[in-house]
Amino acid sequence: MIKHCLFPAAGYGTRFLPATKSMPKEMMPIVNKPLIEYGVDEAIQAGMTNMAIVTGRGKNSLMDHFDKNYELEHQISGTNKEEMLVDIRSLIDSAQFTYIRQREMKGLGHAILTGKQLIGDNPFAVVLADDLCVNETQGVLEQMVKLFKQFRCTIVAVEEVPNDETHKYGVIAGEHLSDDLIRVTDMVEKPEQGTAPSNLAIIGRYILTPDIFEHIENTEPGKGGEIQITDAILKQASNGCVIAYRFKGKRFDCGSWMGISMRQITAMKTYT
Ligand code: UTP
Repeated sequence: MIKHCLFPAAGYGTRFLPATKSMPKEMMPIVNKPLIEYGVDEAIQAGMTNMAIVTGRGKNSLMDHFDKNYELEHQISGTNKEEMLVDIRSLIDSAQFTYIRQREMKGLGHAILTGKQLIGDNPFAVVLADDLCVNETQGVLEQMVKLFKQFRCTIVAVEEVPNDETHKYGVIAGEHLSDDLIRVTDMVEKPEQGTAPSNLAIIGRYILTPDIFEHIENTEPGKGGEIQITDAILKQASNGCVIAYRFKGKRFDCGSWMGISMRQITAMKTYT
């Protein structure tokens, strides 16, 4: 039912400098796959077929990754190295990839709005590839699609974070419908230390209804002077139509070397 998945990938990735000086952070490898490929895998597993990628300057390798490389294929044809391309070939065949360029980095909300032309009037998923989510039985997006079928409204994935880390995230509060579902009534982007409405932080998985685009268009720059998706979703929440979901699985914060260097090792051991 949800066929589109948007990947905002235009950000500068400053927390990972100097690695991201000339390489997109979404192309950082975890074992032998770039981060964005894990996100695309998860979207395909959840039944999505249209991968819409918001790129920016210096991000051309993202497009090359989801394309054929005839020279390379010719070079390794007939050797045992061909086997290493089996997964990516099948992934490329399973989905359509479209791209749009965000010319000015005005924030995540603006990046999502930039993707509007690729999404149209459809509910869609959003994956922030630097949040690598794993779950052995059912991927996080697949869990969220199931919930979308039930609630037909915007779903945001949340996880509990330590109180002294809430200032790094969008944080939600609301009415608990069950252990893992909350009807959102409040949302704050990167609250000052000690002012967060809860310790439930939004991570990089969303399912958004298409009215979000209009809400973003009417959203002024917020925290950090950026157009924040959190502010636009809060507008949807005023109609009672945003559900926060404490997903099953594990999230690895791969947006900074602090997260990736230790967690990469755990991920390698557990999931590959
Ligand atoms: P982040 O703030 O985590 O990414 O944005 P960043 O700006 O690349 O990283 P740092 O903070 O400088 O290290 C969340 C997601 O939104 C995208 C980023 O690419 C990332 O996937 N984004 C952010 C855009 O596409 N455009 C923007 O203007 C801002």
